[in-house]
Amino acid sequence: MSEPTAETPAETPADQPKTESHDPAVPAAYAAFMREGWGERDLDVPRHPVAEWAAARRARLAEAFPGERLVLPAGTYKVRANDTDYRFRPDTAHTYFSGNQTSDAVLVVEDGESVLYARPRSERDTDEFFRDRQYGELWAGRRPSAQEISDSLGIEVRHVKDLPSFEDDRKTRDITTDADLARVADELRLVKDEWEVAELQEACDITALGFEDSVREWDRAREFGERWIEGTFFRRARAMGNDIGYDSICAGGSHATTLHWIDNTGAIEPGRLVLLDMGVEGRNLYTADVTRTLPVDGTFTPLQRDLYDLVLTAQQKGIDAVRPGVPFLAAHNAAMEVLAHGLEDLGLLPVSAQEALDPESKVYARWTLHGTSHMLGMDVHDCGRAATEIYPKGDLAEGMVLTVEPGLYFQEDDLLVPEELRGIGIRIEDDILVTADGNRNLSASLPRTSADVEEWMGRHTAG
Ligand code: GLY
Ligand code: MN
Repeated sequence: MSEPTAETPAETPADQPKTESHDPAVPAAYAAFMREGWGERDLDVPRHPVAEWAAARRARLAEAFPGERLVLPAGTYKVRANDTDYRFRPDTAHTYFSGNQTSDAVLVVEDGESVLYARPRSERDTDEFFRDRQYGELWAGRRPSAQEISDSLGIEVRHVKDLPSFEDDRKTRDITTDADLARVADELRLVKDEWEVAELQEACDITALGFEDSVREWDRAREFGERWIEGTFFRRARAMGNDIGYDSICAGGSHATTLHWIDNTGAIEPGRLVLLDMGVEGRNLYTADVTRTLPVDGTFTPLQRDLYDLVLTAQQKGIDAVRPGVPFLAAHNAAMEVLAHGLEDLGLLPVSAQEALDPESKVYARWTLHGTSHMLGMDVHDCGRAATEIYPKGDLAEGMVLTVEPGLYFQEDDLLVPEELRGIGIRIEDDILVTADGNRNLSASLPRTSADVEEWMGRHTAG
C-alpha cells in the first residue's frame, strides 16, 4: 500500500489504535511502561430503571417476528472534521429495546433471548487505552465493562468482536436495511409506557427552565442577538439533560417566517417578535419540542396580539381535539379551521374559508405552511417509519405523545398581504399526552396566553 496522502487517508486496521499523524511516536519502552502498574478505576453504573421496560419491549418485538433473528445496531461515531467526531448519540430503536447508550454495540434478539454485543472498556495489555482517540480510556474516558453493562441493563453482554456473521439458515433482519423491522419498531414506540411519559415530562420541565434562562438573559440577547439565546438554552440542556433534541430555532423578526431557521445569526430588535423553538433531550434521550413567540419589548403591539391570539385559539382548538380514538389529523384539522377563518377575516383569502379548507384547494396554507402535529418521543419527529395507515393516517390512542404547533407566517416579500404583516411569524407549540379521557399538556408550565407571556417576561427580565 502506498504512503497515505491527503487524498488517500490511512486505514486503521481494526486492532490498531485510532491515532493521528500529529500524535507523538510511541517507542517500545514507553508502550511497555504504560501497560504496567495500574489499579482499579471505578465507574458508577447502577441498575438502569429502563431495564425491565426494555425487556418487555424486546418480548413484543420478538413476538412480531417469530423464529427470526433481529439485529439492531447502536451505530458508531460520525466524523465532524478530519479526526474529530460528533458526540455519539445512539440509534433510537437500539436504545429503546436495550437501554444501552454506548457506541458500536449491536442488540441481537432471537427466540426471545437477547444478547447485547458491546464494545467495553479496553484492557490494559494493549496500546488502545492510552493511544486510541475514540475508545481509549485516557482519551475518551472509561467505558463500562461488559459485566457492568450487563448488570446495569439486565441483559447478556458479549464483546462486539464476537458478533457472529449470521450465515446460517435462520432469517436475519437488520434494522438498518430491513424496512419491515424498522416499521414495526416505530409502531411499537408509538404508545409510550409510564416510564417514557415521566421522561418526556422531565424533558419538558428542563425545557421550561431553558426558556426561562433565555428570558432572564434578555439584555444580553438584545445585545448579542439570536445566538445568545441558542447558547443559553444549550447550557441548560447540557447541564440537566443530554443535549438539545434538535438544533434550536431562535428566530428574531422575519427569521420567524423561515420554518427551520437554525443559522441564528440575527439580531433581537425592539418592536419585533422572536420565535423560539427549542427542546431539551433528557439523559435517557427523550426530547421536548416547544415553541413560544415572544415580544422583544415584553408587550405585544395590538397587531401582534391579534395575530398571536388567533394562533393561540387555533392551537387550543387543536389541543382540545386530542383524545383516544380520534384521527391523528384531528388536531391539524381543528387548528386549520380556525386559521383559515382568521385569514378570511383579515381579507387575505382569494376564496371563502370554506372553499380554502377543501382538500383540493388549501390556498390558506400559503400562510400556515406545515402540519400541526408530529409524534414526539426519543426522536423529535418520532415513529416516522410507521405504516402510513397507522401514523399519520391512523387514530390516536392513550399513551401517544404529539405536538400541537400551528403557526402563521407572512414572508417579507409576500405581495399578497398588507405591508404591516410582512415579516411576522408566530408559532405556539406544546407537547400533548393522550390520556384515557382526553389529554394532558406536558409543557403547560410555560405561559401561552398573550397576557401570561407578558407577565412571565416581566417577572424574569426584571432584575
Ligand atoms: N421543532 C421543529 C419541528 O417540529 O420541526
Ligand atoms: Mn415540532
